[in-house]
Amino acid sequence: MCGIVGYVGHGDTKEIILQGLRTLEYRGYDSSGMALMSDGEIIVEKKEGRIQNLADSLKGKVFSSEIGIGHTRWATHGVPSDRNSHPHYSMDKSVAVVHNGIIENYQVLKKELEEKGYVFSSETDTEVISQLIQDMYNGDILDTVIKVQKRLEGSYAIGVLHKNHPDELVCAREHSPLVIGIGEKENFIASDVSALLKYTKDVYYLEDGDTAVLKSGEIKIFDKNENLVQREKKYIEWNLEQATKCGYPHFMLKEIFEQPQAVKETFNKRVHNGKADFSDVLNYKDIEKINKIYIIACGTAYHAGLQGQFALQKIAKLDSAADIASEFRYSDPFIDDKTMVIFVSQSGETSDTLAALKEAKSKGALTIAITNVVGSTISREADKVIYTMAGPEIAVASTKAYTTQVAIFYLLALYIAELRGVISEEKYKEYISEIKDMPEKIQKILDDCEKIKPAAEYFKNRINGFYIGRGLDYKVAVEGSLKIKEVSYIHTEAFASGELKHGTIALIEEGTPVIVIATQRNLIDKSVSNIKEVKARGAYIITIGFKNEENLKNVSDIFIGIPECNDLFAGFLSIIPLQLLAYYTSEAKGIDVDKPRNLAKSVTVE
Ligand code: M6R
Repeated sequence: MCGIVGYVGHGDTKEIILQGLRTLEYRGYDSSGMALMSDGEIIVEKKEGRIQNLADSLKGKVFSSEIGIGHTRWATHGVPSDRNSHPHYSMDKSVAVVHNGIIENYQVLKKELEEKGYVFSSETDTEVISQLIQDMYNGDILDTVIKVQKRLEGSYAIGVLHKNHPDELVCAREHSPLVIGIGEKENFIASDVSALLKYTKDVYYLEDGDTAVLKSGEIKIFDKNENLVQREKKYIEWNLEQATKCGYPHFMLKEIFEQPQAVKETFNKRVHNGKADFSDVLNYKDIEKINKIYIIACGTAYHAGLQGQFALQKIAKLDSAADIASEFRYSDPFIDDKTMVIFVSQSGETSDTLAALKEAKSKGALTIAITNVVGSTISREADKVIYTMAGPEIAVASTKAYTTQVAIFYLLALYIAELRGVISEEKYKEYISEIKDMPEKIQKILDDCEKIKPAAEYFKNRINGFYIGRGLDYKVAVEGSLKIKEVSYIHTEAFASGELKHGTIALIEEGTPVIVIATQRNLIDKSVSNIKEVKARGAYIITIGFKNEENLKNVSDIFIGIPECNDLFAGFLSIIPLQLLAYYTSEAKGIDVDKPRNLAKSVTVE
């Protein structure tokens, strides 16, 4: 939610900032802007809309600048407009600030500053930061920012320029991500490492309360007690190719096609000599005392958690419940030291998930993070962390993060099942082999992707639709429905098939698309009956099932067959056609697939 970048060095500052913003555009695309120090002045350029608007307005303009900051915005306070775009000057233009987060006490601060005569030129919360820096400036910009931080409540990652300090880029963080890229005679800041990959893979992750000052050849970091500290230098394994489209028209399609590899890498990382290995995370003693597992997350990560709950209950035979982070926090959950809480987050930065994590920790639970981003806040806050091996996920719609999260859950369930002695050796081997085969089976579905297009052609002209399934299929239906909503703007809802006739069936009319997921063999007859019920009321049936299920084929308008597997693992496969359906429908409607309206990849506000 908002992306910030900053650069200090002898390179082409304007281009480096622009390139960083392009990489971070997925974090928000209501507006963008940059501030460059040039000839003793801070020049700010900002434009509502996509980054291309900013690039166009900068075309032909040459700046002799060796330091700059940039911002791409997902609007919170104030409508998307040039005026509300970042960077924000202070009143005398001595300061420029970019900010990701929310300053919760901004109204109090604004009032105080207005009483002193400060005039505000935007509706944003951020502008109080630049004005406060002007107001509290004491000749030392680092010290001033540290003092300003003590007045701020809420969340922030900020980049600050001051015109009296033409070689210093100051940054700070509190509950919003910020990473420092370490270069050769140049240094960087960014909300996420993908913006840095072109220049460096060596980074420092700032901790909450940290403030740093960057010069071209020097980085100094101070903790919240104002002590000079040395944060651990981390090396980013991701490569630049992973963060570019590589010939695909959209990141979403590229990431869908990367799933066989991503699941394989996740499997290889965690399976050694035929055994799922999470010994770095859990041992018998931990498991022995656990009597309840909660799985907490938002959006797609929550949907992966639903599959996780299924796997933990069916395979590890442990009482498990999945919940939405923003609800869980306020539901007064019964948590104690016998509870294990698993937090799932691709970005590792989602505010609601992070807040729930802090809550669970304070109640004594064992907390485990499943995340894709090394060094992310959630990975650092949790007691233990399990990384998915999805590589950078750029498209707003999550795909490969989901399947790798699901893979982790299944492997973890097997690991726990063995520790608890609730699985036979034979079953264990069979299940490991099922998971091992998943990348190849996913690839088979992808090889047949053209078969999904007729369903997308049908869907693209509809205004609503339903996704139904039973058991595990319902959990997949929920994710399929979210996927199409977010990228194609078609209103869909997912229902447990059996629940449909308790009200929702009233919405079925001639031509309403009903997507049926039917992989649970013991429930197929019931699914066939449900199909007949809605078909009799005019529904258009698109079914996802194992390829040889003739009964399902016979009652469907479009049947999408997936390779055979044990029912328990079918969610790895049935989601793939649903992701493709969402993608192709979005594409057919001419929507900007990777950046659907109103959304941002990383939701760092509650
Ligand atoms: O980074 P996270 O996994 O914590 O993000 C949670 C959700 O915001 C996210 O899964 C969102 O629902 C997806 N981008 C939707 O495709």
